[in-house]
Amino acid sequence: MLEFDAQTTHLLDTVYQGADVTRRRQASFDALKPGPGETILDIGSGNGLLTAELARAVGPDGRVIGVDPSGDMRQSAIRRCRDFDWVDIIDGSTRHLPVADASIDKAASVQVFEYLSDIPGAVDEVRRALKPDGKLVVGDIHFDSLVWFSNAPERMARMLAAWDNHFVERRVPALLPPILRKAGFGVEAVHPITICDHQLKPDGLANMMMILMENYAVSNGYISQQEAGDWAAEQRSLAAEGSFFFSVTHFVVSAKKL
Ligand SMILES: C[S@@+](CC[C@H](N)C(=O)[O-])C[C@H]1O[C@@H](n2cnc3c(N)ncnc32)[C@H](O)[C@@H]1O
Repeated sequence: MLEFDAQTTHLLDTVYQGADVTRRRQASFDALKPGPGETILDIGSGNGLLTAELARAVGPDGRVIGVDPSGDMRQSAIRRCRDFDWVDIIDGSTRHLPVADASIDKAASVQVFEYLSDIPGAVDEVRRALKPDGKLVVGDIHFDSLVWFSNAPERMARMLAAWDNHFVERRVPALLPPILRKAGFGVEAVHPITICDHQLKPDGLANMMMILMENYAVSNGYISQQEAGDWAAEQRSLAAEGSFFFSVTHFVVSAKKL
């Protein structure tokens, strides 16, 4: 799996404030409809961007709990949320959420479920934490929606196959609704957000994925440094000549505890 270490945390910190990832985070925020005084759980809170936005929305009468197993990510989230006394950033994971039964009004989890080996178990654990009628919002990419142009499609396919090893499940948005229904949730909406980049924007999702994919494929021995470097160089030269094309769809699944 991808290591959410200090280097990755720093890269995510920059790109997660860019337009692409901000739009995807905003979609989860809008689906959650955070209100004053609510208690909200941010599962896999990462560098705490959504956590801070939720903290502003619930205000000092509310509470936001960010849970993440990565110490580097938690440190980044703690720094970002230091002005909000009503935020706690806690070590934990979807296997055991460090909160009491039926204590949470709403929960969000953005770009986390793809890393889980037990999605039904995670859904049961969130259900335990939610109050009756509590809301769950899960945002994730369906990686079958990825379209990425290359004049060397076989090399592109090898890079994407290597990247597939960095997560557990590439089809979360399609698999989640039946899992939620089986666990006792009503599925209220599945909302697509397509991220399309024709420029290789410095703060874009495509640029972040290129850096992460090249490092991941080489450091795990899936692809040689030469081949991964050639792949990245082709994408940069396509961008320079105006032929870069990348598109992927992130889905926001909204559900209610029945
Ligand atoms: C791609 S980041 C997304 C962070 C944040 N949700 C966002 O959208 O900005 C994935 C995060 O999930 C966390 N994570 C991985 N496995 C987890 C688990 N089992 N439970 C909770 N968080 C997990 C990682 O440590 C990392 O911070």
